[in-house]
Amino acid sequence: MKKIIIINGPNLNLLGKREPEIYGSESFDSYYQLLKDNFPSFDLHYFQSNIEGELIDKLHEIGFTYDGIILNAAAYTHTSVGIGDAVKAISSPVIEVHISNTFSREDFRHNSFISANARGVILGFGYQSYKLALQSFL
Ligand code: DQA
Repeated sequence: MKKIIIINGPNLNLLGKREPEIYGSESFDSYYQLLKDNFPSFDLHYFQSNIEGELIDKLHEIGFTYDGIILNAAAYTHTSVGIGDAVKAISSPVIEVHISNTFSREDFRHNSFISANARGVILGFGYQSYKLALQSFL
């Protein structure tokens, strides 16, 4: 059974309440449960933190043993050399995901410190971005 983890970065604990016109009004917890139910063939895990160092620690902890990482580093995508370096340092493949189409938003969201070292990037499909990323590990 493939071990996959979804890692969500800052402010994504507020999904469902935060800017629903951009991110939707469903909580991530209920979507995660749906993913678990629909993809029983994966050993699926979830981690969220608002703290950059905790995200890096988690990548180090699981990044040599898990079969895949689905990473939405949220705002740190655009600012964090440290998370980008961590993605480069580990051996598990990382799929970068975003709920919104970051390229149709402010210029500062067009840069990613993660993309260059990700296996792939999926963005702009709402919560379905996570499902598409998960399907890539089938
Ligand atoms: C986001 C896009 C980022 O620019 C933003 O800072 C987020 C969420 C997304 O999933 O669309 O917090 O990663």
